[in-house]
Amino acid sequence: MKEFKRHLVTAALPYANGPVHIGHLAGNFLPADIYARYLRAKKQDVKFICGTDEHGVPITIRAMKEGVTPQAIVDKYYTIINESLQTMGISFDIFSRTSNQVHHETSQAFFKTLYDKNLFEEKESEQYFDEEKQTFLADRYITGTCPKCGNPNAYGDQCEKCGSALSPDELINPRSTLSNSAPVKRVTKHWYLPLQNYEVWLKQWILEEHKDWKNNVYGQCKSWLDNGLQSRAMTRDSNWGVKVPLPDAEGKVLYVWFDAPIGYISATKELTPQWSDYWCKDDTKLVHFLGKDNIVFHCIIFPAMLKAHGDFILPENVPANEFLNIEGEKVSTSRNWAVWVDEYVKDFPDMQDALRYVLCANAPENKDNDFTWKDFQERVNSELVAIFGNFVNRAFVLVHKLCNGKIPPFHLDAKDEKDDALFDKIVKTKETVSNCIEHYKFREGLFAVIDLAREGNKYLQDKEPWKKGDDQVSIDNSLHICMQLCANLAIFINPFLPFTAAKMCRMMKVVDRMLDWDNSGSLKLLQKGYPMNAPELLFKKIEDEQIVFQSEKLKNGLILSAQETAAGKANDEPSSVHTSLKETIQFEDFDKIDLRVGNILTAEKVEKADKLLKLTIDLGFEQRTVVSGIAMHYTPEEIVGMQVTLVANLAPRKMRGIESNGMILMAENAEGKLIFINPHGEAMNGSAVK
Ligand code: 2FM
Ligand code: ZN
Repeated sequence: MKEFKRHLVTAALPYANGPVHIGHLAGNFLPADIYARYLRAKKQDVKFICGTDEHGVPITIRAMKEGVTPQAIVDKYYTIINESLQTMGISFDIFSRTSNQVHHETSQAFFKTLYDKNLFEEKESEQYFDEEKQTFLADRYITGTCPKCGNPNAYGDQCEKCGSALSPDELINPRSTLSNSAPVKRVTKHWYLPLQNYEVWLKQWILEEHKDWKNNVYGQCKSWLDNGLQSRAMTRDSNWGVKVPLPDAEGKVLYVWFDAPIGYISATKELTPQWSDYWCKDDTKLVHFLGKDNIVFHCIIFPAMLKAHGDFILPENVPANEFLNIEGEKVSTSRNWAVWVDEYVKDFPDMQDALRYVLCANAPENKDNDFTWKDFQERVNSELVAIFGNFVNRAFVLVHKLCNGKIPPFHLDAKDEKDDALFDKIVKTKETVSNCIEHYKFREGLFAVIDLAREGNKYLQDKEPWKKGDDQVSIDNSLHICMQLCANLAIFINPFLPFTAAKMCRMMKVVDRMLDWDNSGSLKLLQKGYPMNAPELLFKKIEDEQIVFQSEKLKNGLILSAQETAAGKANDEPSSVHTSLKETIQFEDFDKIDLRVGNILTAEKVEKADKLLKLTIDLGFEQRTVVSGIAMHYTPEEIVGMQVTLVANLAPRKMRGIESNGMILMAENAEGKLIFINPHGEAMNGSAVK
């Protein structure tokens, strides 16, 4: 086995075009954090690197949608992402940004090195250009009719109706989403990396020398390599990104997947003047954590770039995870089907470890997995609270009750086989957890810790110190062992649940240094006579109401997002200037909808919901409560008294616990503001709109 002097751990850089969701946490931040924390506890030299990916189409699309500059978007989301990951205890040594100067310089220098070595192919090709907006169009900015299924709103890279991968050339009647005009073809020059030149080397390096990589990663690489690699453009036409550092490259930027992984290098540069020890010396172990959609970039394209450059080390491992679905459905940021980390930390203050626990216990390590709020509740209540929390709490309470709150002595002559068995289990757990973490099997490692706590509960149940009356020797011995077990549990759980380990240190009145990995596997962690603090509650039980609330929130997010989409504000996709018409319906279909005119009597903000207003609508014959997603567009004061049009026979829906009885019709103005569709002139409240 190769000996490494230092470790470089990276987590894939999230795009700064929206907050992060729990799929991001489970997929890469959490496993990377567990790994980095473990290495630190082993006193290894480790740098844990991350930051936001601030270039590329996702950012510009978001900016266009919100009607602001890309810079405003990345500034906003950098702050949100950074804050939520910090709160979750993701212990980056640096969380940088690819918009930083050092990154622009580093990635330009990288490109220039490859250029000077003559490793790029310079090619001209025809690409779609929007003459009205005077810009080339990325594939996502072009829509048209899908040649496979006839969907009139297919994108230049994919039809979301039939799932086909497309190229813009295949679209029938292509249109620019920026101007809705028909784009024209224009010749443009780009720099391509001939990946086929690295194929033989990549096959040897991955398929022969890295059979140890996870099956899902190895399998994906093999299939890419078996299909043969081709040249890939490493530049794009855009004005947002890292400028191509060549004299004849006006309006060209580096391809976002060229600059983003170099972000790991630039962030390390920003972190330490010794950055090149980490990136250029063979005895550094580089491990990339990421989700499965990033495998090809980290295993094939970036390594080919690194190899081409020549100065840098290659990853030792790329332990990618599969996807985490939510309540049986794929995460969709555009449909708002996601559990957002910034919202979780607001809704569950001081309960980061509960989420860390469930996401690790349920991590999609080898296959896609499902997160459900019910499972979240069950795992927290029946594993964290009932096994781990319960054992630690009982041990502390008993020490306070039966041993004056001090570590009792251990009477060697009274030691029995149950004590030995528990000690053995502690030693074995140390080995298992180390082994699991070092092999990226975090779920198994976590379960080994929970198992050990379970053994603790059994031991306590067998020994029953509370029934031992004046047999102080028996009481001392069992509680001495239980407290040593608590200390070991704190060390083992620390990489996974650092907030819990910190609480346990406070309870044991010890400093963080006790959590050093090498201390574990011993029964001499706490000295006899050492006083303990009173136990703190390690975990709170999750109540049914919390779960109902979260499940509703998830569904309501979906409804709100559908309303926004209907108003032309799709989340991730570029909104066309005009959304295309829905399919024709019959009069009978229309006639089912009961539209009525009403007056807004009262309006108030809905607590903890930025987008919602609660309205009372007077329909003349009755008053209705309606919850409407317009709080970003209107204050309550400015709309009271206004006449509106209401879909009056829509089935009631609960939003944030409030029953909404109807939906107000809105349209969008040129700035994207929602405006009311109200009668022109004074109509009678309650009158039907026909
Ligand atoms: O898929 C993503 O979210 C990308 N922003 C990941 C980039 S990882 C790295 F290469 F920077
Ligand atoms: Zn299609």
